[in-house]
Amino acid sequence: MAWFFGVLAALAAPAMALAQAPLERGRYLVDTVMTCHNCHTPMGPNGPQFDRALSGGLRFDEAPFDVTASNITPDRETGIGNWSDAEIKTALQEGTRPAGHHLAPIMPSGFYGILTPGDLDGIVAYLRSLPAVSNAVPGPVYKQPVAYQVFPGAEKSMSESDFGNKLKRGFYLVTIAHCMECHTPFGPPGTGMDFKNSLGKGGREFPGPWGVSTARNITSSKSAGIGDWSDVEIKRAITQGVRKDSSKLKPPMGYRYYAKMTDEDVEAMIAYLRTLPAKE
Ligand code: HEC
Ligand code: HEC
Repeated sequence: MAWFFGVLAALAAPAMALAQAPLERGRYLVDTVMTCHNCHTPMGPNGPQFDRALSGGLRFDEAPFDVTASNITPDRETGIGNWSDAEIKTALQEGTRPAGHHLAPIMPSGFYGILTPGDLDGIVAYLRSLPAVSNAVPGPVYKQPVAYQVFPGAEKSMSESDFGNKLKRGFYLVTIAHCMECHTPFGPPGTGMDFKNSLGKGGREFPGPWGVSTARNITSSKSAGIGDWSDVEIKRAITQGVRKDSSKLKPPMGYRYYAKMTDEDVEAMIAYLRTLPAKE
């Protein structure tokens, strides 16, 4: 009989994901895996201000641009209340505003092309359900053109039928969580992140109130990466921000949000991370 329940469970898992209402699916993606709050929710002295969730947040004043994460609540004056569903989807997947110009690549649109149509609908439904918050953020200043980079594998949307395959599901989740944006170093100037040669190798620095944190090597290398960590240790790092040697991870690693992912999703992510070629 055990095999019979095993088959039932295997059939039930993808069916459940599909049966989830679009709004609930969108809430799960936005609030956990995709860490939208990490950038779009205002930061107060005591952390993110969830009573004004997604009403505009961090400012990135960097060499090629000075941009602030937008107000993405349905407020008509200061948020995206006047945007059509199609306009929101275009901003998410192609990184362009209705006026036509490209968003600064801080917004991880280069990773969102892989989103399934169902997940895109869910994200839009959830954004529309948020309380409208009036909060005008400063407009963007673009100092130099920046190349728009699409993450390899995120060129087109994945099929929902692939969610039943653990490795493909893991790749999907790691992509939309934009793990590799932070964990891949830049190539030669002007070429963007070096996904081809240094995927997951770490090294990017993130200055902030916490000092400077450096994204780590999360490839399968046993010496430099997480190849000799157990699944439990990797899960603890992703969801609790505690590394193998028990020290605490600093921001902007979004474990606060990843903590609420389902076990099944975290395990799929780990299975995929184990397949990353080792980089020393
Ligand atoms: C790493 C930080 C970061 C994350 C994570 C992030 N965004 Fe953004 N987003 C930005 C920034 C910065 C901008 C503004 C860029 C600019 O002005 O060029 C932006 C712009 C946008 C816009 C355009 C709005 C407008 O008024 O122009 C939308 C829509 C959006 N983000 C939605 C989302 C959603 C939904 C998520 C999660 C699925 C998300 N973002 C995750 C940083 C982020
Ligand atoms: C916004 C940038 C950012 C994103 C997105 C991000 N990380 Fe991180 N991550 C970091 C930084 C920075 C550190 C190191 C923090 C420190 O040393 O205190 C880190 C540390 C880690 C560690 C600990 C490794 C070690 O050797 O200590 C693991 C594992 C990890 N990240 C996995 C992931 C996974 C998986 C994802 C996607 C689900 C992800 N990260 C998304 C920035 C990020």
